[in-house]
Amino acid sequence: MDNTKDKLPKHIAIIMDGNGTWAKKRGLSRNLGHRKGVQTLINTIKYCQQIGIEYLTVFAFSTENWSRPKEEVDYLMKLPEQFLETYRKTMCDNGVRFRVIGRKDNLKADLLKKIKELEIETEENNNIHFTLAFDYGGKDEIVNAAKKIAIDVKENKIKLEDLDENLFYHYLYTKDLPMVDLLIRTSNQIRISNFMLWQIAYSELYFTDTLWPDFRRRDLDKAIDEYQKRNRRFGGL
Ligand code: FPP
Repeated sequence: MDNTKDKLPKHIAIIMDGNGTWAKKRGLSRNLGHRKGVQTLINTIKYCQQIGIEYLTVFAFSTENWSRPKEEVDYLMKLPEQFLETYRKTMCDNGVRFRVIGRKDNLKADLLKKIKELEIETEENNNIHFTLAFDYGGKDEIVNAAKKIAIDVKENKIKLEDLDENLFYHYLYTKDLPMVDLLIRTSNQIRISNFMLWQIAYSELYFTDTLWPDFRRRDLDKAIDEYQKRNRRFGGL
């Protein structure tokens, strides 16, 4: 892996799949797989920070995950708090800028409060931008942007003829994040599952068999190695 700053992907996004499979293989409950996934996530943030990745965004709960059994949804809803309890202080002390993207209307008030507080507390941090996509859907994000744009046009805040890709981007949940350079999905599922549809327009895609709880530093190194071999042309020659 070439650690030179301009050779590293600036923004890595990860679809952390395979917690359930990992648990099943061990005869454990799916929830224990998710719990292990939180630890893997913490290790991954640390490692990204260590090697100089500027933006890391992970998919933790999709707008479609509500259709899982209630018991699992209830557990998944508790994960952000579990994550914050374990890792909040480290994020504050180590320059991690924390954000959550996604819908906010179905989340409990006390969780929203904790998220908001930490977002404000880490506002000045810029060692690594860590973003949790929670109750997030790429299609929902685009529809939400279109609605906000329609309102702003109606209220004469913007002119329709000024709307271009750059301006549209400012209405996405990710307005403060750059486009994704490298998208990683674990657990041998070759699909996007409604994650960051706009932001991955020119991402390099990397799929691995490794289940998320087994994902280690060497797995990230392999993904970055592969990324560095790709010839990114962005539609040019
Ligand atoms: C997909 O695996 C994973 C999820 C739906 C949850 C992802 C959550 C984590 C990795 C923990 C970190 C989360 C937070 C909020 C800090 P799956 O359950 O679909 O696995 P399977 O495909 O093997 O069943």
